[in-house]
Amino acid sequence: MYGRHESTKQHGSGGRRAVLWLLLPPLLVLIVLKTNFLPEAARIRESGFTRFKDEMVSKVSSLGLDSARWQQKSLDTEKPESAKDQYNNQQNEILATNGAKDASLINSDVEAPALSKLTCNFSNRHSDYCTMEGDLRIHGKSASVYVVASSTHRPENSTITVRPYTRKWEPGTMARIREVSLRSTPPAFSFVIPPKCTVRHDVPAVIFSTGGCGKNFFHAMSDLIVPLYITAHEYNGRVQLLITDYNADWVAKFRPILAALSAYPVIDFDADTAVRCFPAARVGLESHRILGIDPARSRNGYTMRGFRDFLRSVLSLQRAWSTPVSRSSGQKPRLVFALRRHSRAVTNEADAVAALADVGFEVVAAGPEDVSDMAGFAAVVNSCDVIVGVHGAGLTNMVFLPHNGTAVQIIPWGNLKYPCRFDFGDPVPDMGLRYEEYEATAEETTLKDKYPRDHPVFADPLSIERNGKVWEVFLEGQNVTLDIDRFRGAMQQIYQSITTE
Ligand SMILES: *[C@@H]1O[C@H](CO)[C@@H](O)[C@H](O)[C@H]1NC(C)=O
Ligand SMILES: *[C@@H]1O[C@H](CO)[C@@H](O)[C@H](O)[C@H]1NC(C)=O
Ligand SMILES: *[C@@H]1O[C@H](CO)[C@@H](O)[C@H](O)[C@H]1NC(C)=O
Ligand SMILES: *[C@@H]1O[C@H](CO)[C@@H](O)[C@H](O)[C@H]1NC(C)=O
Repeated sequence: MYGRHESTKQHGSGGRRAVLWLLLPPLLVLIVLKTNFLPEAARIRESGFTRFKDEMVSKVSSLGLDSARWQQKSLDTEKPESAKDQYNNQQNEILATNGAKDASLINSDVEAPALSKLTCNFSNRHSDYCTMEGDLRIHGKSASVYVVASSTHRPENSTITVRPYTRKWEPGTMARIREVSLRSTPPAFSFVIPPKCTVRHDVPAVIFSTGGCGKNFFHAMSDLIVPLYITAHEYNGRVQLLITDYNADWVAKFRPILAALSAYPVIDFDADTAVRCFPAARVGLESHRILGIDPARSRNGYTMRGFRDFLRSVLSLQRAWSTPVSRSSGQKPRLVFALRRHSRAVTNEADAVAALADVGFEVVAAGPEDVSDMAGFAAVVNSCDVIVGVHGAGLTNMVFLPHNGTAVQIIPWGNLKYPCRFDFGDPVPDMGLRYEEYEATAEETTLKDKYPRDHPVFADPLSIERNGKVWEVFLEGQNVTLDIDRFRGAMQQIYQSITTE
């Protein structure tokens, strides 16, 4: 029902075994005391463990998991269920090392009780995130993650809460994100009895929220897809994604990418009544910058170019490179014009498209209806060398351009150069693309039909910002009427730079 990763294996040793364990401890203590067995036991235990570990490492090395410590844990499928089981396991171990000149016994179903571990990083600007391994029990319905018998447990933070979204600097957005509680229990006795596993997974979990991006493609990419790549790509698909504030449209739209990151169907966390046990988990996504990756902060040295190669492979996009087109050959560079409809629309788009064709581009005009089919539109963008658009989510499609392509941002009126660059300018070079901008003048905005020229909208745009009206006045409140000659001139230069004789 949930997919092939879930084992329905019955856990627990069964009544007969339990009785046996109850009888054994006094006997064992006796043997140990009587026979000077300890050094040898330690030795066998060590070699047995090494062999166990080697086997596991070879078994998982094909998975591409990068840390040996991790590899070892990922195969620890049987974990003690409670303090009492842990005690029993310790007895198991003594029995195994004692009884066993034959090390195969150690490789059977007995193992050292592993302590769990939890580390969190709250010092990032974009997101809080925690990493854990060991005996983890996750109950989506109550948004709880139990970190059982944790060596990193501290009484003062035995419960830690995380809102797993990447816009930590926006309290309004974060308020909509469901809080996930991480509850640690100490290695020894605890009054907190963690729930029993109902489902066991042998791959790590990644928990994040889709509650902060709505239908916005820029936020979906910048807040979630890129961070998800940073956080989960290293598992080569051997990872279970659990989504809180489950946004079904988002999941449907990004299904091909999700399927490339995880071999298993995503789980709607908030609706999930199972207690799922995992050997490792991450709560929250790592995020470095807007629509970007900082290779120095990525455990695996990921880059934005690598991310774009990943997208190209997932969506079967044909062109890796945009190469200069020879003008004399009669070929034309292709340009996609991402058009908007309700705000920041180009009122004279037909004239603008004609001017672009005039300059020498083969133009694809794409409205919001064309852009909504991500895979289809990705192929269109990838077939082009240039994307042009007024500041807005549509420009995010630049991620599908071939390397060396050019992104042109038209900046609306309102002293918006820096915020616009922040979203769609600064991220561009790391993508292996070139960035150009075209800043609309006071003559090129429909605001001039609404406000006199001595109004602060023109005379002092910063005052609009100070009054918190940027969104309303400059982003939602204007369309752009391009000065066609000026626009043609700017695009002519770009044409020259990406073509040869
Ligand atoms: C718990 O608090 C201690 C300090 O008291 C700190 O060192 C540790 O990192 C905290 N653990 C987590 C998971 O935040
Ligand atoms: C936490 O994140 C910050 C910011 O990225 C980083 O500088 C720091 O090294 C991280 N701390 C740990 C313990 O990884
Ligand atoms: C990238 O673009 C520049 C400028 O148009 C050009 O000189 C260079 O040859 C291009 N690189 C490739 C690999 O096509
Ligand atoms: C922008 O133009 C569209 C028509 O393309 C219109 O519906 C909308 O109201 C205009 N918005 C503004 C702020 O002028």
